Amino acid sequence: MELPIELRDAVNSELAGRSPKELAPVVENLSKRYRSSLQAAVEERLVQTSDDAAAYAAFRLPATYGAVYGALGQVKAQLPEFRPTSLLDVGAGPGTAMWAAHHPDLWQDSLEKVTLLEREAAMISLGKRLAAQSSLSSIRKAEWVPVDITGDWPTGSHDLVVTAYVLGELPEEARPVFVQQLWEKTGGVLVIIEPGTPAGFARIRKAREMLLNLEGNLVAPCPHQGSCPIGDDDWCHFTQRVARSRLHRQVKAGELGYEDEKFAFTAFSRQQGEACRGRVIRHPQIRKGHVRLKVCTSAGLIDWVVSRKDKDVYRNARNLKWGSPVDLP
Ligand SMILES: C[S@@+](CC[C@H](N)C(=O)[O-])C[C@H]1O[C@@H](n2cnc3c(N)ncnc32)[C@H](O)[C@@H]1O
Repeated sequence: MELPIELRDAVNSELAGRSPKELAPVVENLSKRYRSSLQAAVEERLVQTSDDAAAYAAFRLPATYGAVYGALGQVKAQLPEFRPTSLLDVGAGPGTAMWAAHHPDLWQDSLEKVTLLEREAAMISLGKRLAAQSSLSSIRKAEWVPVDITGDWPTGSHDLVVTAYVLGELPEEARPVFVQQLWEKTGGVLVIIEPGTPAGFARIRKAREMLLNLEGNLVAPCPHQGSCPIGDDDWCHFTQRVARSRLHRQVKAGELGYEDEKFAFTAFSRQQGEACRGRVIRHPQIRKGHVRLKVCTSAGLIDWVVSRKDKDVYRNARNLKWGSPVDLP
């Protein structure tokens, strides 16, 4: 996928005065700190200066946008009737989740009011400058609230609450209260997204358990409300392919025109809905004569092998992707 043109242009104009040479060391530094934060939670402030924020926009925003889009897409597929009018983006950075939720495939038509909670002034000013270039009034008029989200939040309930790539930046002891507060502010659906690493998934699994105890209704990705069947040596995650900008390629000296962002997430609703019957949780393996799928179901993890001989099922199985909901026969 590509960033929407308006956001791409806004990011490009933000970076226009900076050469790849100038950005490269800042991006390298930020990316080093992010990489180590994927292994273990960091409690230092990763983005504080306007250079850090610009580097974030060049190097991380497209990927986190892709992850949020991927997670929200699964939610929308499960809850086609859900039409949120208000959105709360917690630990918003430059407003990534706000932009993703406004994708035409998602809730561009229904969203009217957006509130973004963020601690770093550099992120807020970058986010405001990007938002000013949107043609959508809900993005332009979004309310940015400077706040430390480990304390109380000066905001009411919203239809859709999203927090992306934030949980791992909070001190471990602050996370349970944070998740509880997210749920208190949720009028409709809460979506928590983390990097698709073992550590990111472990945080998602804990949040999932908490939200089940708070009697939330699990929307996605899990096809059941039972205990998670993923073993300790594995982790449930999904992937979203995101196009890299020319500047991104120059700055990162990457040859590929895209990156595959891995993410883990959980989504809960206040309303009871229909969970899918199964979810494909790895790339399907298409072999000569059969397709092999790893599917999470209420009966646990299943290795589903569909033979070519089973014509109709096989045709459908060939179209399934990592993350697709699936009705097992
Ligand atoms: C990795 S960035 C993610 C930004 C955005 N959600 C995205 O997906 O691109 C994490 C954000 O959480 C913010 N953050 C971390 N701890 C915070 C805190 N205690 N209070 C407010 N914001 C916080 C950081 O400033 C940063 O902007």
